[in-house]
Amino acid sequence: MWEKFIEEKVNEIRETVGDGKAIIALSGGVDSSTAAILAHKAIGDRLYAVFVNTGFLRKGEPEFVIKTFRDEFGLNLIYVDAQERFFEALKGVTDPEKKRKIIGKTFIDVFEEVAREINADFLIQGTIAPDWIESQGKIKSHHNVGGLPERLNLKLIEPLRDLYKDEVREVARELGLPEKIYKRMPFPGPGLAVRVIGEVTPEKIAIVREANAIVEEEIEKAGLKPWQAFAVLLGVKTVGVQGDIRAYKETIAVRVVESLDGMTANAMDVPFEVLQRIAFRITSEIPQVGRVLYDITNKPPATIEFE
Ligand code: XMP
Repeated sequence: MWEKFIEEKVNEIRETVGDGKAIIALSGGVDSSTAAILAHKAIGDRLYAVFVNTGFLRKGEPEFVIKTFRDEFGLNLIYVDAQERFFEALKGVTDPEKKRKIIGKTFIDVFEEVAREINADFLIQGTIAPDWIESQGKIKSHHNVGGLPERLNLKLIEPLRDLYKDEVREVARELGLPEKIYKRMPFPGPGLAVRVIGEVTPEKIAIVREANAIVEEEIEKAGLKPWQAFAVLLGVKTVGVQGDIRAYKETIAVRVVESLDGMTANAMDVPFEVLQRIAFRITSEIPQVGRVLYDITNKPPATIEFE
């Protein structure tokens, strides 16, 4: 069903890029992975896939992306460790939109430096329909839209801009990407930074990274297939007991939602024993956390992410 789409897009990219070079910011999410494979099919090694470690990636993600795309798919992958730079840029910043903007800007800065060296002509982006629709509606600034090509003086190619997430997954599957990628839950561009409410620090990111991994693992083990399942560090300490001693620890919110396209979503009716297992594991495996809450709000009125 998607063969024709793939053929068309590959041809389009090949014709547009000509003898030039293209770069893509590859995150390992389904959108950028699909766009990267399409472009790789079209122009081979003239596609430079830049993978930036922002410090806000999920557990095991950098290793997974490098192994999959460099070792298995043979992409021309450039790995940039920019963790310190991102943490530095976000010091003292608590406002969600400011955080998103700073992350977006830092990303562009890092990317620009790499792009200058590569001297590329085109930028391939895995933008999908909800990204630009929601950005137009000014609900949240999405970090993979806007500003980037102008600053880099690159011509933009967005092969997936008319697709919704479920369609991108089908294309990814058709392209032979592993299930682990095309069945992957969406993950926001600003990553775990928007799953820490308020100021971001390496310590807080480490907590939410562990909690996210536990949530994803337990939801998968239970055989549930939500649109997204994740943890958020609320930055609120609450009182608990540990043995006979009063504890004062962090609170984690768990969010599991069902959705078709991310535009609207419902909180999932996750079996209570699964939620309890998640709470047990988070509070026993992450010593800083003393309480776990389940978010029962739909979108609207809430968004899927907390920031
Ligand atoms: P919200 O929180 O706006 O999220 O209901 C809708 C869907 O989009 C994902 N999301 C993002 N995706 N860049 C992205 O590519 C972003 O900046 C971004 N912010 C949120 C979110 O995880 C959900 O699936």
